[in-house]
Amino acid sequence: MPHYLKVGNVPHKRHVIHRDHDGSRLVEELFGQEGFSSGSALLYHRHSPSALVGIESVDIKTPEFHLDKPLTPRHLRTEMLKPVDDMALDRHELLGNADVILSWAETSQTSSLYRNASCDELVYVQDGAAKLETIFGTIAIRQGDYVVIPKGTTLRWCPDRTLKLLFIESRGHIRTPQRYLSKNGQFLEGSPYSERDLRTPESPLTVDDENVSVLVRHHSGISRHIYRHHPFDVLGWDGSLYPWALSIHDFEPIVGRIHQPPPVHQTFEGDGFVVCSFVPRLLDFDPDAVKIPYYHSNSDSDEVLFYSSGNFASRVGSGIGAGSISFHPTGFVHGPQPGSYESSVDKNSTDELAVMVDTFRPLAVAEAGRDISDQNYPWSWSKIT
Ligand SMILES: [Fe+2]
Repeated sequence: MPHYLKVGNVPHKRHVIHRDHDGSRLVEELFGQEGFSSGSALLYHRHSPSALVGIESVDIKTPEFHLDKPLTPRHLRTEMLKPVDDMALDRHELLGNADVILSWAETSQTSSLYRNASCDELVYVQDGAAKLETIFGTIAIRQGDYVVIPKGTTLRWCPDRTLKLLFIESRGHIRTPQRYLSKNGQFLEGSPYSERDLRTPESPLTVDDENVSVLVRHHSGISRHIYRHHPFDVLGWDGSLYPWALSIHDFEPIVGRIHQPPPVHQTFEGDGFVVCSFVPRLLDFDPDAVKIPYYHSNSDSDEVLFYSSGNFASRVGSGIGAGSISFHPTGFVHGPQPGSYESSVDKNSTDELAVMVDTFRPLAVAEAGRDISDQNYPWSWSKIT
């Protein structure tokens, strides 16, 4: 995230003495990526952020992922997944590879304080509202938000209404596509979103508490760290690395006289995958335009599509609806279900809202993903209408 922000109370220079209004010296933390050779922020704590008083292991069931064997297109039905108590611990992992893990959580409970030390998190908010409390401050979260959380951010989710969340955990960092940015990092004219669409922490968040538990997700599982002081003790910070939110409803679609290719919908990228947003838009307006996608072999990608809301014109009769996930692995030519073309002929616009994740390495299917797979979906293109 390239844009510099300054929030709260920071000193006039880096790495100099900085004091609270009562004269006590604040503690500086450099929060940085890629060996401190990339984006970073400087945070000013009341207390040492390293004051551990306890370390415990946390037993969790490690999800098993299985290769998609035999190769099978899938429809995963997230409405079959049970709500969870603590999304920091209990997400339902569905699909994954070495670059990215897709999981799901529905909850109305405030999460534990946690820090993902292995991955950036990109969270799509299918439903609900929440306050996302972080060491950088609070962001108000609502339906349709993408929330970008840099690896290592300490936070907790405080739902105002029951949340349904699609988690995209990325080993590499989540980025805005480079082609949307000037060489200095400003969003270009023609980019489908810009600085004004981004929502960031607006003021510091401080909590006075002691012996506070923080769950740390890391490469070998989850650990519980207990800190002398609450991690939300930052009185000011500045820099270009922080959590932020972008509403899918602020993504401006690009349309054309004839069909536009999927990259016009790209919203984010990570190492080994891209994320695209399909939002309500005018359909192709040439009199002879075919308004639904062609059949396609995306021969370097596995395609995952999360159907958020609206009418999915290309999935007529497939059983797919809001909350569904389709998984179309490379090696399977896919496209509209029978009857889709006929139902699109008289339409001038679509109200579909969907999030696509294209991965460049094959995805494996977790047990929960297999359990919620619609066994009839692979045959949905063979129906006679
Ligand atoms: Fe596709």
